[in-house]
Amino acid sequence: MNQRVLVASNRGPVSYQFGADGSLTGRRGGGGMIAGVADGLAALGPEASATWICAALSDADRAVARARDTSDGNGIAVRMLDIAPDIFDRAYNRVANSALWFLLHQLFDTPNQPRFGREFRRDWEAYLAYNAAFADALTGEAQTGEALTGGEGGLRVLIQDYHLCLAPRLLRDRLGGQWGEAGIGHFCHTPWVPPDYYRMLPDDVGRALLDGILGADRAGFHAERWATAFLDCCAAVLGADVSRTGLAGPGPGPVGRVTYRGHVTEVAVHPLGVDAAALRERARAGDVRAHAGALRRATGDRKLIVRVDRTELSKNIVRGLAAYRELLDTRPQWRGRVVHLAFAYPSRSALAEYRAYTDQVRELAGQINEEFRTADWDPLVLEVKDDYPRSLAACALADVLLVNPIRDGMNLVAQEGPVLSERGCALVLSREAGAAATLAADALLVNPYDVTETADALHRALEMPDAERQRRGAALAATAAADPPARWLGGQLASLRPGS
Ligand code: F6P
Repeated sequence: MNQRVLVASNRGPVSYQFGADGSLTGRRGGGGMIAGVADGLAALGPEASATWICAALSDADRAVARARDTSDGNGIAVRMLDIAPDIFDRAYNRVANSALWFLLHQLFDTPNQPRFGREFRRDWEAYLAYNAAFADALTGEAQTGEALTGGEGGLRVLIQDYHLCLAPRLLRDRLGGQWGEAGIGHFCHTPWVPPDYYRMLPDDVGRALLDGILGADRAGFHAERWATAFLDCCAAVLGADVSRTGLAGPGPGPVGRVTYRGHVTEVAVHPLGVDAAALRERARAGDVRAHAGALRRATGDRKLIVRVDRTELSKNIVRGLAAYRELLDTRPQWRGRVVHLAFAYPSRSALAEYRAYTDQVRELAGQINEEFRTADWDPLVLEVKDDYPRSLAACALADVLLVNPIRDGMNLVAQEGPVLSERGCALVLSREAGAAATLAADALLVNPYDVTETADALHRALEMPDAERQRRGAALAATAAADPPARWLGGQLASLRPGS
Protein backbone atom coordinates (compact mmCIF):
# COMPACT_ATOMS: atom_id res chain seq x y z
CA MET A 1 0.00 0.00 0.00
CA ASN A 2 1.28 3.50 -0.83
CA GLN A 3 2.23 5.30 2.27
CA ARG A 4 3.45 8.87 2.66
CA VAL A 5 5.61 9.40 5.75
CA LEU A 6 7.08 12.65 7.01
CA VAL A 7 9.71 12.54 9.75
CA ALA A 8 10.89 15.60 11.68
CA SER A 9 13.91 15.62 13.98
CA ASN A 10 16.64 18.04 14.98
CA ARG A 11 19.56 15.85 13.88
CA GLY A 12 19.06 14.28 10.49
CA PRO A 13 20.24 11.01 8.98
CA VAL A 14 23.10 12.74 7.18
CA SER A 15 25.39 15.60 8.16
CA TYR A 16 28.01 17.30 6.00
CA GLN A 17 31.61 18.41 6.37
CA PHE A 18 33.74 20.67 4.22
CA GLY A 19 36.92 19.09 2.87
CA ALA A 20 40.16 21.08 2.60
CA ASP A 21 39.27 21.89 -1.02
CA GLY A 22 35.79 23.15 -0.05
CA SER A 23 34.05 20.00 -1.26
CA LEU A 24 31.20 18.56 0.78
CA THR A 25 31.07 15.01 2.14
CA GLY A 26 28.07 13.51 3.91
CA ARG A 27 28.22 11.17 6.92
CA ARG A 28 25.44 9.28 8.65
CA GLY A 29 24.23 11.12 11.75
CA GLY A 30 24.88 9.33 15.07
CA GLY A 31 22.69 8.23 17.99
CA GLY A 32 19.91 5.80 18.74
CA MET A 33 17.11 7.97 17.36
CA ILE A 34 18.77 8.14 13.94
CA ALA A 35 19.41 4.38 13.90
CA GLY A 36 15.80 3.61 14.84
CA VAL A 37 14.17 5.97 12.35
CA ALA A 38 16.58 5.38 9.44
CA ASP A 39 16.51 1.58 9.69
CA GLY A 40 12.76 1.62 10.35
CA LEU A 41 12.11 3.73 7.23
CA ALA A 42 14.41 1.55 5.13
CA ALA A 43 12.35 -1.49 6.13
CA LEU A 44 9.13 0.09 4.78
CA GLY A 45 10.32 -0.70 1.29
CA PRO A 46 9.89 1.08 -2.03
CA GLU A 47 6.14 1.59 -1.80
CA ALA A 48 6.45 4.08 1.02
CA SER A 49 7.42 7.60 0.13
CA ALA A 50 9.27 9.25 2.99
CA THR A 51 10.72 12.71 3.53
CA TRP A 52 12.87 13.49 6.55
CA ILE A 53 12.98 17.10 7.69
CA CYS A 54 15.88 18.05 9.96
CA ALA A 55 17.88 21.09 11.00
CA ALA A 56 21.11 22.13 9.32
CA LEU A 57 23.59 21.68 12.19
CA SER A 58 26.75 23.19 10.71
CA ASP A 59 27.93 25.62 8.04
CA ALA A 60 28.42 22.67 5.70
CA ASP A 61 24.83 21.53 6.31
CA ARG A 62 23.65 25.09 5.67
CA ALA A 63 25.48 25.15 2.34
CA VAL A 64 23.67 21.95 1.36
CA ALA A 65 20.34 23.24 2.72
CA ARG A 66 20.58 26.34 0.54
CA ALA A 67 21.61 24.47 -2.59
CA ARG A 68 19.45 21.38 -2.76
CA ASP A 69 17.44 18.71 -1.06
CA THR A 70 19.48 15.61 -0.35
CA SER A 71 19.02 11.93 0.56
CA ASP A 72 20.04 9.64 3.41
CA GLY A 73 21.79 7.29 1.02
CA ASN A 74 18.96 4.75 1.29
CA GLY A 75 16.45 6.53 -0.92
CA ILE A 76 14.85 8.68 1.79
CA ALA A 77 14.52 12.33 0.75
CA VAL A 78 16.14 14.65 3.30
CA ARG A 79 15.27 18.31 3.63
CA MET A 80 17.52 20.36 5.88
CA LEU A 81 16.15 23.56 7.37
CA ASP A 82 18.47 26.53 7.32
CA ILE A 83 17.32 28.06 10.60
CA ALA A 84 19.07 31.32 11.58
CA PRO A 85 22.20 30.39 13.61
CA ASP A 86 21.22 32.43 16.68
CA ILE A 87 17.72 30.90 16.77
CA PHE A 88 19.19 27.43 16.30
CA ASP A 89 21.83 27.94 18.99
CA ARG A 90 19.32 29.15 21.58
CA ALA A 91 16.73 26.48 20.74
CA TYR A 92 19.21 23.57 20.57
CA ASN A 93 21.97 24.42 23.05
CA ARG A 94 20.06 26.48 25.59
CA VAL A 95 16.51 25.12 25.65
CA ALA A 96 16.77 21.55 24.33
CA ASN A 97 20.22 20.59 25.67
CA SER A 98 20.62 22.78 28.76
CA ALA A 99 17.03 22.94 30.05
CA LEU A 100 14.99 20.04 28.65
CA TRP A 101 17.72 17.39 28.56
CA PHE A 102 18.74 18.27 32.13
CA LEU A 103 15.10 18.25 33.22
CA LEU A 104 14.17 14.93 31.60
CA HIS A 105 17.33 13.21 32.91
CA GLN A 106 17.04 14.88 36.34
CA LEU A 107 20.54 16.33 36.05
CA PHE A 108 20.03 19.71 37.69
CA ASP A 109 22.35 20.67 40.51
CA THR A 110 19.36 22.30 42.20
CA PRO A 111 21.08 24.73 44.60
CA ASN A 112 22.46 26.45 41.49
CA GLN A 113 20.45 25.32 38.51
CA PRO A 114 18.12 25.93 36.76
CA ARG A 115 17.70 29.71 36.72
CA PHE A 116 14.91 30.75 34.44
CA GLY A 117 15.56 34.47 34.06
CA ARG A 118 15.22 36.97 31.22
CA GLU A 119 17.87 35.26 29.13
CA PHE A 120 15.88 32.04 29.25
CA ARG A 121 12.81 33.92 28.02
CA ARG A 122 14.80 34.93 24.94
CA ASP A 123 15.89 31.33 24.49
CA TRP A 124 12.30 30.19 24.81
CA GLU A 125 11.23 32.61 22.05
CA ALA A 126 13.88 30.99 19.85
CA TYR A 127 12.53 27.53 20.71
CA LEU A 128 9.09 28.73 19.57
CA ALA A 129 10.54 30.03 16.30
CA TYR A 130 12.54 26.83 15.74
CA ASN A 131 9.44 24.66 16.27
CA ALA A 132 7.44 26.98 14.00
CA ALA A 133 10.05 26.53 11.25
CA PHE A 134 9.56 22.75 11.44
CA ALA A 135 5.76 23.10 11.52
CA ASP A 136 5.90 25.34 8.43
CA ALA A 137 8.10 22.86 6.56
CA LEU A 138 5.87 19.93 7.53
CA THR A 139 2.77 21.89 6.49
CA GLY A 140 4.37 22.67 3.13
CA GLU A 141 5.26 18.99 2.58
CA ALA A 142 1.82 17.86 3.73
CA GLN A 143 0.11 20.15 1.27
CA THR A 144 2.07 19.04 -1.78
CA GLY A 145 0.35 16.79 -4.29
CA GLU A 146 -1.57 13.94 -2.79
CA ALA A 147 0.37 14.15 0.45
CA LEU A 148 -2.47 15.14 2.74
CA THR A 149 -4.42 12.03 2.02
CA GLY A 150 -1.18 10.27 1.20
CA GLY A 151 -2.94 8.33 -1.53
CA GLU A 152 -4.18 4.94 -0.48
CA GLY A 153 -2.08 4.56 2.65
CA GLY A 154 -2.63 7.96 4.25
CA LEU A 155 -0.14 10.55 5.50
CA ARG A 156 1.76 9.86 8.71
CA VAL A 157 3.90 12.48 10.43
CA LEU A 158 6.47 11.25 12.97
CA ILE A 159 7.95 14.05 15.09
CA GLN A 160 10.95 13.15 17.23
CA ASP A 161 12.05 14.18 20.67
CA TYR A 162 12.23 17.09 23.12
CA HIS A 163 13.57 19.51 20.52
CA LEU A 164 10.19 19.44 18.84
CA CYS A 165 7.60 19.35 21.63
CA LEU A 166 5.63 22.25 20.19
CA ALA A 167 5.59 21.11 16.56
CA PRO A 168 2.66 18.64 16.78
CA ARG A 169 0.23 21.30 18.03
CA LEU A 170 1.58 23.94 15.61
CA LEU A 171 1.19 21.53 12.70
CA ARG A 172 -2.35 20.55 13.71
CA ASP A 173 -3.31 24.25 13.97
CA ARG A 174 -1.73 25.10 10.61
CA LEU A 175 -3.53 22.32 8.77
CA GLY A 176 -6.85 23.08 10.44
CA GLY A 177 -9.62 21.02 8.87
CA GLN A 178 -7.50 19.72 5.98
CA TRP A 179 -6.51 16.53 7.73
CA GLY A 180 -8.13 13.88 5.59
CA GLU A 181 -6.61 10.57 6.54
CA ALA A 182 -3.52 11.89 8.23
CA GLY A 183 -2.07 11.16 11.66
CA ILE A 184 0.60 12.86 13.80
CA GLY A 185 2.87 10.93 16.16
CA HIS A 186 5.36 12.38 18.62
CA PHE A 187 8.08 10.15 20.08
CA CYS A 188 10.27 11.00 23.03
CA HIS A 189 13.56 9.07 23.09
CA THR A 190 14.43 10.34 26.56
CA PRO A 191 12.87 9.54 29.91
CA TRP A 192 9.98 11.67 31.16
CA VAL A 193 9.85 13.01 34.72
CA PRO A 194 7.25 12.98 37.50
CA PRO A 195 5.24 16.20 38.05
CA ASP A 196 7.25 17.32 41.11
CA TYR A 197 10.44 17.52 39.04
CA TYR A 198 8.67 18.74 35.89
CA ARG A 199 7.28 21.69 37.85
CA MET A 200 10.77 23.20 37.99
CA LEU A 201 9.99 24.64 34.56
CA PRO A 202 8.24 28.02 34.49
CA ASP A 203 4.51 27.27 34.55
CA ASP A 204 3.76 28.65 31.09
CA VAL A 205 6.69 26.73 29.57
CA GLY A 206 5.70 23.47 31.27
CA ARG A 207 2.14 23.82 30.04
CA ALA A 208 3.18 24.77 26.50
CA LEU A 209 5.42 21.70 26.12
CA LEU A 210 2.68 19.29 27.21
CA ASP A 211 0.06 21.07 25.13
CA GLY A 212 2.40 20.91 22.14
CA ILE A 213 2.87 17.14 22.37
CA LEU A 214 -0.87 16.69 22.89
CA GLY A 215 -1.36 18.12 19.39
CA ALA A 216 -0.29 14.62 18.27
CA ASP A 217 -2.65 11.67 17.90
CA ARG A 218 -0.14 9.40 19.61
CA ALA A 219 2.68 10.21 22.03
CA GLY A 220 5.27 7.42 22.22
CA PHE A 221 7.93 6.47 24.79
CA HIS A 222 10.42 3.62 25.07
CA ALA A 223 9.24 2.45 28.49
CA GLU A 224 6.02 2.40 30.48
CA ARG A 225 7.63 4.33 33.30
CA TRP A 226 8.20 7.38 31.07
CA ALA A 227 4.73 7.14 29.49
CA THR A 228 3.12 7.01 32.93
CA ALA A 229 5.12 10.03 34.12
CA PHE A 230 3.89 11.91 31.03
CA LEU A 231 0.27 11.01 31.87
CA ASP A 232 0.88 12.18 35.45
CA CYS A 233 2.20 15.55 34.19
CA CYS A 234 -0.78 16.00 31.86
CA ALA A 235 -3.14 15.44 34.80
CA ALA A 236 -1.22 17.47 37.39
CA VAL A 237 0.08 20.37 35.30
CA LEU A 238 -2.67 20.79 32.69
CA GLY A 239 -5.61 19.34 34.60
CA ALA A 240 -6.24 17.26 31.45
CA ASP A 241 -8.65 14.33 31.44
CA VAL A 242 -6.40 11.26 31.70
CA SER A 243 -7.53 7.64 31.44
CA ARG A 244 -5.10 4.79 32.09
CA THR A 245 -5.09 1.26 30.75
CA GLY A 246 -1.58 0.24 31.75
CA LEU A 247 0.54 -2.15 29.72
CA ALA A 248 0.00 -5.90 29.94
CA GLY A 249 3.59 -6.86 29.04
CA PRO A 250 6.80 -5.05 28.10
CA GLY A 251 5.21 -3.40 25.02
CA PRO A 252 4.49 -2.20 22.45
CA GLY A 253 1.02 -0.97 23.32
CA PRO A 254 -1.06 1.93 24.62
CA VAL A 255 -0.97 2.83 28.32
CA GLY A 256 -3.61 5.54 28.40
CA ARG A 257 -5.33 8.48 26.75
CA VAL A 258 -5.32 12.21 27.35
CA THR A 259 -8.25 14.36 26.33
CA TYR A 260 -7.32 18.02 26.18
CA ARG A 261 -8.76 20.96 24.26
CA GLY A 262 -11.20 18.65 22.51
CA HIS A 263 -8.53 16.32 21.12
CA VAL A 264 -7.61 12.79 22.23
CA THR A 265 -3.97 11.70 22.33
CA GLU A 266 -3.15 8.05 22.86
CA VAL A 267 -0.03 7.56 24.99
CA ALA A 268 1.89 4.41 24.13
CA VAL A 269 5.05 2.41 24.66
CA HIS A 270 7.17 1.31 21.68
CA PRO A 271 10.46 -0.20 22.87
CA LEU A 272 13.32 0.13 20.39
CA GLY A 273 15.73 -2.78 20.10
CA VAL A 274 18.23 -3.74 17.40
CA ASP A 275 18.32 -5.45 14.02
CA ALA A 276 20.42 -8.37 15.23
CA ALA A 277 21.14 -9.90 11.81
CA ALA A 278 22.34 -6.60 10.31
CA LEU A 279 24.46 -5.82 13.37
CA ARG A 280 26.15 -9.24 13.35
CA GLU A 281 26.83 -8.96 9.64
CA ARG A 282 28.44 -5.54 10.15
CA ALA A 283 30.58 -7.02 12.91
CA ARG A 284 31.95 -9.67 10.50
CA ALA A 285 33.49 -6.96 8.26
CA GLY A 286 37.25 -6.64 7.97
CA ASP A 287 37.57 -3.30 9.80
CA VAL A 288 35.82 -4.71 12.89
CA ARG A 289 37.88 -7.93 12.79
CA ALA A 290 41.08 -5.88 12.53
CA HIS A 291 40.13 -3.85 15.60
CA ALA A 292 39.22 -7.03 17.47
CA GLY A 293 42.66 -8.46 16.71
CA ALA A 294 44.39 -5.27 17.87
CA LEU A 295 42.37 -5.12 21.10
CA ARG A 296 43.14 -8.77 21.84
CA ARG A 297 46.85 -8.25 21.24
CA ALA A 298 46.83 -5.20 23.53
CA THR A 299 44.92 -6.87 26.38
CA GLY A 300 46.08 -10.49 26.12
CA ASP A 301 43.79 -13.10 27.64
CA ARG A 302 42.64 -10.78 30.42
CA LYS A 303 38.94 -10.34 31.12
CA LEU A 304 37.41 -7.25 29.53
CA ILE A 305 34.94 -4.83 31.06
CA VAL A 306 33.62 -2.67 28.22
CA ARG A 307 31.61 0.53 28.12
CA VAL A 308 30.66 2.56 25.03
CA ASP A 309 29.01 5.94 25.53
CA ARG A 310 28.87 9.48 24.37
CA THR A 311 30.60 11.56 27.03
CA GLU A 312 27.59 13.09 28.52
CA LEU A 313 26.39 13.74 31.98
CA SER A 314 23.47 11.32 32.02
CA LYS A 315 25.78 8.40 31.10
CA ASN A 316 27.39 8.44 34.56
CA ILE A 317 30.88 7.61 33.30
CA VAL A 318 32.64 9.11 36.32
CA ARG A 319 30.78 6.89 38.81
CA GLY A 320 31.43 3.93 36.49
CA LEU A 321 35.17 4.62 36.68
CA ALA A 322 34.91 5.07 40.45
CA ALA A 323 33.26 1.64 40.67
CA TYR A 324 36.11 0.09 38.66
CA ARG A 325 38.62 1.74 41.00
CA GLU A 326 36.71 0.37 44.00
CA LEU A 327 36.72 -3.09 42.41
CA LEU A 328 40.51 -3.02 42.05
CA ASP A 329 40.85 -1.63 45.56
CA THR A 330 38.62 -4.10 47.35
CA ARG A 331 39.22 -7.21 45.22
CA PRO A 332 42.97 -7.24 44.57
CA GLN A 333 42.60 -10.67 42.96
CA TRP A 334 41.48 -8.89 39.76
CA ARG A 335 44.60 -6.74 39.49
CA GLY A 336 46.51 -7.79 36.40
CA ARG A 337 43.64 -10.04 35.28
CA VAL A 338 41.15 -7.50 33.95
CA VAL A 339 41.19 -4.48 31.63
CA HIS A 340 38.48 -1.84 31.45
CA LEU A 341 37.94 -0.56 27.90
CA ALA A 342 36.11 2.74 28.39
CA PHE A 343 35.05 4.34 25.10
CA ALA A 344 33.72 7.81 25.85
CA TYR A 345 33.09 9.73 22.67
CA PRO A 346 32.70 13.51 22.38
CA SER A 347 29.27 15.05 22.68
CA ARG A 348 27.78 18.56 22.80
CA SER A 349 31.12 20.24 23.38
CA ALA A 350 29.43 23.63 22.89
CA LEU A 351 28.26 23.32 26.52
CA ALA A 352 30.67 24.11 29.36
CA GLU A 353 29.19 21.37 31.58
CA TYR A 354 30.06 18.77 28.97
CA ARG A 355 33.62 20.03 28.55
CA ALA A 356 34.12 19.96 32.33
CA TYR A 357 32.66 16.45 32.52
CA THR A 358 35.01 15.23 29.79
CA ASP A 359 37.94 16.62 31.79
CA GLN A 360 36.72 14.78 34.89
CA VAL A 361 36.54 11.50 32.95
CA ARG A 362 40.09 11.91 31.64
CA GLU A 363 41.42 12.87 35.06
CA LEU A 364 39.90 9.93 36.91
CA ALA A 365 40.96 7.49 34.18
CA GLY A 366 44.52 8.81 34.48
CA GLN A 367 44.47 8.44 38.28
CA ILE A 368 43.30 4.82 38.07
CA ASN A 369 46.10 3.95 35.68
CA GLU A 370 48.66 5.72 37.83
CA GLU A 371 47.46 4.02 40.99
CA PHE A 372 47.30 0.43 39.73
CA ARG A 373 49.48 0.18 36.59
CA THR A 374 52.28 -2.37 36.63
CA ALA A 375 55.15 -3.00 34.22
CA ASP A 376 53.02 -5.31 32.08
CA TRP A 377 49.45 -4.21 32.82
CA ASP A 378 47.42 -1.09 32.04
CA PRO A 379 44.19 -1.47 33.99
CA LEU A 380 42.20 1.00 31.92
CA VAL A 381 42.11 2.06 28.28
CA LEU A 382 40.17 5.29 27.73
CA GLU A 383 39.38 6.11 24.08
CA VAL A 384 37.78 9.46 23.31
CA LYS A 385 37.89 9.41 19.50
CA ASP A 386 34.66 8.05 18.04
CA ASP A 387 35.33 4.83 16.14
CA TYR A 388 32.26 2.73 15.34
CA PRO A 389 34.05 -0.43 14.09
CA ARG A 390 36.29 -0.40 17.18
CA SER A 391 33.20 -0.10 19.41
CA LEU A 392 31.65 -3.13 17.71
CA ALA A 393 34.89 -5.07 18.16
CA ALA A 394 35.04 -4.24 21.87
CA CYS A 395 31.43 -5.39 22.36
CA ALA A 396 32.23 -8.63 20.54
CA LEU A 397 35.11 -9.34 22.96
CA ALA A 398 33.46 -8.12 26.19
CA ASP A 399 33.14 -10.40 29.20
CA VAL A 400 31.26 -7.67 31.03
CA LEU A 401 29.35 -4.73 29.60
CA LEU A 402 28.88 -1.76 31.93
CA VAL A 403 25.86 0.46 31.18
CA ASN A 404 25.13 2.60 34.24
CA PRO A 405 23.30 5.79 33.19
CA ILE A 406 21.75 8.10 35.77
CA ARG A 407 18.66 7.95 33.53
CA ASP A 408 18.24 6.92 29.93
CA GLY A 409 15.22 6.74 27.61
CA MET A 410 16.23 3.27 26.40
CA ASN A 411 19.97 2.67 25.79
CA LEU A 412 20.94 0.80 22.67
CA VAL A 413 24.43 -0.21 23.82
CA ALA A 414 22.83 -2.44 26.47
CA GLN A 415 21.11 -4.23 23.61
CA GLU A 416 23.83 -4.16 20.95
CA GLY A 417 26.47 -5.52 23.34
CA PRO A 418 24.79 -8.89 24.05
CA VAL A 419 23.89 -9.31 20.35
CA LEU A 420 27.52 -8.74 19.32
CA SER A 421 29.15 -10.68 22.13
CA GLU A 422 31.02 -13.75 20.88
CA ARG A 423 31.07 -15.71 24.15
CA GLY A 424 28.08 -14.19 25.92
CA CYS A 425 28.63 -11.14 28.11
CA ALA A 426 27.33 -10.29 31.55
CA LEU A 427 25.47 -6.99 31.58
CA VAL A 428 25.77 -4.62 34.56
CA LEU A 429 22.83 -2.32 33.92
CA SER A 430 21.42 0.74 35.64
CA ARG A 431 17.89 0.22 36.84
CA GLU A 432 17.23 3.78 35.61
CA ALA A 433 17.70 2.90 31.92
CA GLY A 434 14.54 2.31 29.89
CA ALA A 435 16.18 -0.93 28.68
CA ALA A 436 15.95 -2.28 32.24
CA ALA A 437 12.21 -2.75 31.66
CA THR A 438 12.91 -5.53 29.17
CA LEU A 439 16.41 -6.75 30.18
CA ALA A 440 16.05 -6.84 33.99
CA ALA A 441 15.67 -10.62 34.32
CA ASP A 442 19.04 -11.43 32.74
CA ALA A 443 21.13 -8.37 33.64
CA LEU A 444 22.75 -7.45 36.97
CA LEU A 445 20.78 -4.34 37.90
CA VAL A 446 22.38 -1.52 39.88
CA ASN A 447 21.42 1.77 41.42
CA PRO A 448 23.57 4.13 39.29
CA TYR A 449 24.41 6.36 42.28
CA ASP A 450 25.68 3.42 44.35
CA VAL A 451 29.34 3.03 43.44
CA THR A 452 29.88 0.18 45.91
CA GLU A 453 26.94 -1.78 44.55
CA THR A 454 28.26 -1.23 41.02
CA ALA A 455 31.72 -2.46 42.05
CA ASP A 456 30.09 -5.54 43.62
CA ALA A 457 28.12 -6.17 40.42
CA LEU A 458 31.29 -5.91 38.33
CA HIS A 459 32.88 -8.52 40.63
CA ARG A 460 29.85 -10.82 40.32
CA ALA A 461 29.87 -10.38 36.55
CA LEU A 462 33.60 -11.17 36.29
CA GLU A 463 33.33 -14.34 38.32
CA MET A 464 30.08 -15.53 36.73
CA PRO A 465 30.46 -19.15 35.55
CA ASP A 466 30.76 -19.48 31.76
CA ALA A 467 27.51 -21.41 31.40
CA GLU A 468 25.52 -18.82 33.33
CA ARG A 469 27.09 -15.93 31.42
CA GLN A 470 26.31 -17.60 28.09
CA ARG A 471 22.73 -18.37 29.13
CA ARG A 472 22.09 -14.82 30.33
CA GLY A 473 23.87 -13.32 27.31
CA ALA A 474 21.75 -15.36 24.89
CA ALA A 475 18.55 -14.33 26.68
CA LEU A 476 19.59 -10.65 26.60
CA ALA A 477 20.38 -10.88 22.88
CA ALA A 478 17.02 -12.52 22.14
CA THR A 479 15.16 -9.77 24.04
CA ALA A 480 17.12 -7.03 22.25
CA ALA A 481 16.34 -8.60 18.88
CA ALA A 482 12.59 -8.77 19.59
CA ASP A 483 11.97 -5.07 18.85
CA PRO A 484 14.02 -4.19 15.75
CA PRO A 485 13.65 -0.71 14.20
CA ALA A 486 11.26 -2.09 11.56
CA ARG A 487 8.85 -3.19 14.30
CA TRP A 488 9.36 -0.02 16.33
CA LEU A 489 8.58 2.31 13.42
CA GLY A 490 6.04 0.01 11.73
CA GLY A 491 4.08 -0.27 14.98
CA GLN A 492 3.85 3.50 15.29
CA LEU A 493 2.72 3.91 11.69
CA ALA A 494 0.11 1.17 12.06
CA SER A 495 -1.23 2.77 15.23
CA LEU A 496 -1.72 6.05 13.36
CA ARG A 497 -4.00 4.47 10.77
CA PRO A 498 -7.48 5.92 10.58
CA GLY A 499 -9.95 3.99 12.68
CA SER A 500 -7.23 2.35 14.80
O1 F6P B 1 19.47 8.98 20.26
C1 F6P B 1 19.61 9.29 21.56
C2 F6P B 1 19.32 10.73 21.82
O2 F6P B 1 19.43 10.84 23.17
C3 F6P B 1 17.96 11.23 21.30
O3 F6P B 1 17.03 11.27 22.33
C4 F6P B 1 18.23 12.62 20.80
O4 F6P B 1 17.42 12.98 19.73
C5 F6P B 1 19.65 12.62 20.48
O5 F6P B 1 20.27 11.60 21.25
C6 F6P B 1 20.23 13.95 20.71
O6 F6P B 1 21.61 13.99 20.55
P1 F6P B 1 22.35 15.19 19.83
O7 F6P B 1 22.17 16.40 20.68
O8 F6P B 1 23.76 14.75 19.76
O9 F6P B 1 21.74 15.32 18.49
